Amino acid sequence: MKKLLVSLFALSAISTAVAAPIAMEDQSQLKLTASKAATEQYHLPPLEADLPDNAFGDMVRKGHAIFVDTKRQVPELVGNGLNCVNCHMDQGRLANAAPLWGAYTMYPAYRKKNDKVNTYAERIQGCFQFSMNGTPPAADSETMTALTTFSYWLATGAPSGVELPGRAYPDVPKPEGGYNLAQGKKVYAEQCAVCHSEDGLGQKVGENYVFPPLWGKDSFNWGAGMHRINTAATFIKANMPLGKGGTLSDQEAWDVAAFMNSHERPQDPRLVDGDIEKTRVKFHANDGVNLYGEKVNGVLIGQGIK
Ligand code: HEC
Ligand code: HEC
Repeated sequence: MKKLLVSLFALSAISTAVAAPIAMEDQSQLKLTASKAATEQYHLPPLEADLPDNAFGDMVRKGHAIFVDTKRQVPELVGNGLNCVNCHMDQGRLANAAPLWGAYTMYPAYRKKNDKVNTYAERIQGCFQFSMNGTPPAADSETMTALTTFSYWLATGAPSGVELPGRAYPDVPKPEGGYNLAQGKKVYAEQCAVCHSEDGLGQKVGENYVFPPLWGKDSFNWGAGMHRINTAATFIKANMPLGKGGTLSDQEAWDVAAFMNSHERPQDPRLVDGDIEKTRVKFHANDGVNLYGEKVNGVLIGQGIK
């Protein structure tokens, strides 16, 4: 019963993300962001009501639709069960959940991940390839134009090249004693399983996830930023459990992030010669804190899952 109630609560909270994907009609969420922005002085993105009724407005609406309902809007580009909005919450608006307005004005930028200057389109392609375990849209495709136009619109009035408060996910320092997988398992059972389910595979209504999977074949792959325990801890601490962001201690956030990322997920698409150890050395050895290519309880992590 408790599980059902919590599930229903969360279902209504994310209804814009899963049920009514096209229109941005949920003004309650927009106001929530607005009032939070006013008190915490985050960038205030424009409201849907401000959108012009012309070709530009249509392109913004299209980008919004793709962002919140990716799997159904561009199924050929998505290889898992996720939508962009699952990690960039409240329609890409929420401060401290990697909001698009915090991202847009910071590109082009150098990225260590691929050792070159990335355009905004290339950054989005990265999330398609890894976070969505999919196929990146071409830089000049309509999908990319739509996502870029949507981001540009959310960033209206923001200064260019200035890191805004609320960008990305706030850092969570690594606990002195490191992380503890057994404690993470406990946190997971007590605070996460009710929505993401005991087996971490999420929960569906019909074809679509209402609670996204945290591991398994429909999750982000081993090349995604979220596979780093440090990155996952930052997202989780600020945003999870849903509706109770900021309630976990730093230790709990690291423990549960490590527990989540000690489970199998789709293979890193950059796999070198079909060899996990070579891939670990090339792409994971200097990529934050992660378990790819390591052994947990005698089992090699990073074997991938189809
Ligand atoms: C599994 C979670 C996840 C999903 C799904 C996801 N992303 Fe991301 N995204 C991330 C993470 C993690 C980062 C890095 C944030 C950071 O720098 O701390 C990121 C970064 C970004 C950035 C750059 C942010 C910045 O401030 O520089 C953009 C733009 C972006 N994602 C767009 C998208 C788009 C578009 C989609 C859907 C096609 C998507 N993401 C899907 C997790 C995800
Ligand atoms: C009340 C339900 C609920 C609880 C409890 C909850 N989550 Fe979530 N979680 C969600 C929903 C819904 C989303 C997608 C958010 C969106 O689309 O706006 C999500 C997204 C995520 C994501 C990013 C998307 C993905 O699938 O990779 C991660 C990681 C995550 N949650 C981890 C956790 C962890 C760890 C806990 C426990 C500390 C937790 N969640 C507790 C509902 C919940």
